[in-house]
Amino acid sequence: MPNVLIVYFSHGGNTRKMAEALSASVQEGGCQVTLKKVNEATLDDLRAADGLLLGSPCYFGDMAAPIKQFIDESIQLFGKGELVGKAAGAFASTGGIGGGGELTILSMLHGLLIHGMVVQGLRKGGHFGPLAIGEPDQRVNDECAAYGTQFAALVKRLAA
Ligand SMILES: Cc1cc2nc3c(=O)[nH]c(=O)nc-3n(C[C@H](O)[C@H](O)[C@H](O)COP(=O)(O)O)c2cc1C
Repeated sequence: MPNVLIVYFSHGGNTRKMAEALSASVQEGGCQVTLKKVNEATLDDLRAADGLLLGSPCYFGDMAAPIKQFIDESIQLFGKGELVGKAAGAFASTGGIGGGGELTILSMLHGLLIHGMVVQGLRKGGHFGPLAIGEPDQRVNDECAAYGTQFAALVKRLAA
Protein backbone atom coordinates (compact mmCIF):
# COMPACT_ATOMS: atom_id res chain seq x y z
CA MET A 1 0.00 0.00 0.00
CA PRO A 2 1.47 3.42 -0.89
CA ASN A 3 2.46 5.67 1.99
CA VAL A 4 1.52 9.34 2.42
CA LEU A 5 3.51 11.54 4.78
CA ILE A 6 1.52 14.40 6.32
CA VAL A 7 3.72 17.00 8.00
CA TYR A 8 2.26 19.98 9.81
CA PHE A 9 2.97 22.78 12.24
CA SER A 10 0.19 23.92 14.54
CA HIS A 11 0.32 26.09 17.62
CA GLY A 12 -3.40 26.37 18.37
CA GLY A 13 -4.67 23.10 16.88
CA ASN A 14 -6.50 24.34 13.78
CA THR A 15 -3.93 23.05 11.30
CA ARG A 16 -3.58 19.83 13.30
CA LYS A 17 -7.32 19.18 12.96
CA MET A 18 -7.03 19.61 9.19
CA ALA A 19 -4.07 17.21 9.14
CA GLU A 20 -6.13 14.65 11.06
CA ALA A 21 -9.12 15.05 8.71
CA LEU A 22 -6.83 14.63 5.70
CA SER A 23 -5.21 11.61 7.30
CA ALA A 24 -8.61 9.94 7.67
CA SER A 25 -9.66 10.60 4.07
CA VAL A 26 -6.30 9.57 2.58
CA GLN A 27 -6.55 6.29 4.50
CA GLU A 28 -10.12 5.80 3.33
CA GLY A 29 -8.76 6.35 -0.19
CA GLY A 30 -6.49 3.33 0.22
CA CYS A 31 -3.13 4.73 1.34
CA GLN A 32 -1.17 4.27 4.52
CA VAL A 33 -0.53 7.55 6.40
CA THR A 34 2.38 8.74 8.50
CA LEU A 35 1.17 11.83 10.36
CA LYS A 36 3.91 13.92 11.96
CA LYS A 37 4.44 17.28 13.62
CA VAL A 38 7.13 19.06 11.66
CA ASN A 39 9.66 18.83 14.48
CA GLU A 40 9.30 15.03 14.44
CA ALA A 41 9.52 14.54 10.67
CA THR A 42 12.82 13.37 9.17
CA LEU A 43 14.42 13.22 5.75
CA ASP A 44 14.03 9.44 5.89
CA ASP A 45 10.27 9.94 6.32
CA LEU A 46 10.36 11.97 3.11
CA ARG A 47 12.42 9.33 1.31
CA ALA A 48 9.98 6.61 2.33
CA ALA A 49 6.87 8.52 1.28
CA ASP A 50 5.05 8.10 -2.03
CA GLY A 51 3.23 11.38 -1.39
CA LEU A 52 3.63 14.43 0.84
CA LEU A 53 1.07 16.82 2.31
CA LEU A 54 2.40 19.91 4.09
CA GLY A 55 0.25 22.00 6.44
CA SER A 56 0.88 25.33 8.09
CA PRO A 57 -0.95 28.19 9.75
CA CYS A 58 -0.71 31.48 7.89
CA TYR A 59 1.90 33.60 9.64
CA PHE A 60 2.26 37.10 8.20
CA GLY A 61 0.86 35.93 4.88
CA ASP A 62 3.27 33.03 4.60
CA MET A 63 4.05 29.59 6.03
CA ALA A 64 5.28 29.31 9.62
CA ALA A 65 9.06 29.19 10.03
CA PRO A 66 9.33 25.51 11.08
CA ILE A 67 7.70 24.42 7.83
CA LYS A 68 10.07 26.62 5.82
CA GLN A 69 12.97 25.08 7.71
CA PHE A 70 11.71 21.58 6.86
CA ILE A 71 11.50 22.50 3.18
CA ASP A 72 14.96 24.06 3.30
CA GLU A 73 16.42 20.92 4.89
CA SER A 74 14.91 18.86 2.07
CA ILE A 75 17.68 20.29 -0.15
CA GLN A 76 19.56 17.15 0.84
CA LEU A 77 17.15 15.16 -1.34
CA PHE A 78 17.31 17.62 -4.22
CA GLY A 79 20.68 16.64 -5.73
CA LYS A 80 19.67 13.13 -6.66
CA GLY A 81 16.07 14.11 -7.41
CA GLU A 82 14.72 11.82 -4.73
CA LEU A 83 11.28 13.46 -4.68
CA VAL A 84 10.81 13.78 -8.45
CA GLY A 85 7.44 12.48 -9.62
CA LYS A 86 5.99 11.96 -6.16
CA ALA A 87 2.57 13.39 -5.29
CA ALA A 88 2.39 16.57 -3.21
CA GLY A 89 -0.06 19.05 -1.80
CA ALA A 90 -0.45 21.72 0.85
CA PHE A 91 -3.10 22.99 3.25
CA ALA A 92 -3.33 25.97 5.56
CA SER A 93 -5.23 27.57 8.39
CA THR A 94 -5.60 31.33 8.49
CA GLY A 95 -7.12 33.94 10.80
CA GLY A 96 -9.40 35.66 8.33
CA ILE A 97 -10.56 36.14 4.76
CA GLY A 98 -7.86 37.94 2.84
CA GLY A 99 -5.33 37.13 5.54
CA GLY A 100 -3.00 35.32 3.16
CA GLY A 101 -4.21 31.72 3.32
CA GLU A 102 -3.83 31.05 -0.39
CA LEU A 103 -0.43 32.71 -0.40
CA THR A 104 0.58 30.39 2.41
CA ILE A 105 -0.45 27.32 0.43
CA LEU A 106 1.21 28.55 -2.76
CA SER A 107 4.36 29.39 -0.86
CA MET A 108 4.65 25.80 0.36
CA LEU A 109 3.93 24.53 -3.14
CA HIS A 110 6.92 26.47 -4.54
CA GLY A 111 9.34 24.14 -2.81
CA LEU A 112 7.41 21.01 -3.73
CA LEU A 113 7.28 22.02 -7.40
CA ILE A 114 11.01 22.82 -7.39
CA HIS A 115 11.61 19.26 -6.20
CA GLY A 116 9.74 18.06 -9.29
CA MET A 117 6.77 16.78 -7.35
CA VAL A 118 3.29 16.44 -8.87
CA VAL A 119 0.81 18.76 -7.17
CA GLN A 120 -2.85 17.91 -6.68
CA GLY A 121 -5.26 20.82 -7.08
CA LEU A 122 -8.95 20.98 -6.21
CA ARG A 123 -11.64 21.76 -8.78
CA LYS A 124 -14.37 22.62 -6.27
CA GLY A 125 -13.54 24.53 -3.08
CA GLY A 126 -10.07 25.75 -2.18
CA HIS A 127 -8.45 25.40 -5.58
CA PHE A 128 -4.88 25.34 -4.34
CA GLY A 129 -5.47 23.01 -1.40
CA PRO A 130 -7.66 22.86 1.71
CA LEU A 131 -7.92 26.18 3.52
CA ALA A 132 -9.55 26.92 6.89
CA ILE A 133 -10.44 30.25 8.42
CA GLY A 134 -10.09 29.79 12.15
CA GLU A 135 -11.28 26.52 13.61
CA PRO A 136 -12.12 23.93 10.93
CA ASP A 137 -15.89 23.71 10.40
CA GLN A 138 -18.03 21.35 8.32
CA ARG A 139 -17.05 23.11 5.08
CA VAL A 140 -13.37 22.53 5.85
CA ASN A 141 -13.96 18.93 6.91
CA ASP A 142 -15.77 18.30 3.62
CA GLU A 143 -12.95 19.96 1.71
CA CYS A 144 -10.34 17.84 3.49
CA ALA A 145 -12.39 14.72 2.76
CA ALA A 146 -12.66 15.55 -0.94
CA TYR A 147 -9.01 16.52 -1.23
CA GLY A 148 -7.77 13.48 0.67
CA THR A 149 -9.75 11.16 -1.58
CA GLN A 150 -8.34 12.76 -4.74
CA PHE A 151 -4.85 12.86 -3.29
CA ALA A 152 -4.93 9.16 -2.43
CA ALA A 153 -6.04 8.37 -5.99
CA LEU A 154 -3.13 10.39 -7.39
CA VAL A 155 -0.63 8.71 -5.07
CA LYS A 156 -1.87 5.28 -6.09
CA ARG A 157 -1.66 6.13 -9.80
CA LEU A 158 1.86 7.51 -9.51
CA ALA A 159 3.06 4.66 -7.32
CA ALA A 160 1.62 1.96 -9.60
C1 LIG B 1 2.67 34.93 14.44
C2 LIG B 1 1.30 34.85 13.83
C3 LIG B 1 1.07 35.46 12.62
C4 LIG B 1 -0.19 35.37 12.03
N1 LIG B 1 -0.36 35.98 10.82
C5 LIG B 1 -1.58 35.88 10.22
C6 LIG B 1 -1.79 36.49 8.95
O1 LIG B 1 -0.92 37.10 8.35
N2 LIG B 1 -3.01 36.37 8.39
C7 LIG B 1 -4.05 35.69 9.01
O2 LIG B 1 -5.14 35.60 8.45
N3 LIG B 1 -3.85 35.09 10.22
C8 LIG B 1 -2.66 35.16 10.83
N4 LIG B 1 -2.45 34.56 12.03
C9 LIG B 1 -3.54 33.71 12.59
C10 LIG B 1 -3.31 32.22 12.32
O3 LIG B 1 -3.02 31.97 10.97
C11 LIG B 1 -4.57 31.43 12.69
O4 LIG B 1 -4.94 31.68 14.03
C12 LIG B 1 -4.42 29.94 12.47
O5 LIG B 1 -5.69 29.33 12.52
C13 LIG B 1 -3.54 29.29 13.54
O6 LIG B 1 -3.40 27.92 13.24
P1 LIG B 1 -3.06 26.84 14.37
O7 LIG B 1 -4.25 26.77 15.31
O8 LIG B 1 -2.84 25.57 13.64
O9 LIG B 1 -1.82 27.30 15.08
C14 LIG B 1 -1.22 34.65 12.65
C15 LIG B 1 -0.98 34.07 13.91
C16 LIG B 1 0.25 34.16 14.49
C17 LIG B 1 0.50 33.49 15.83
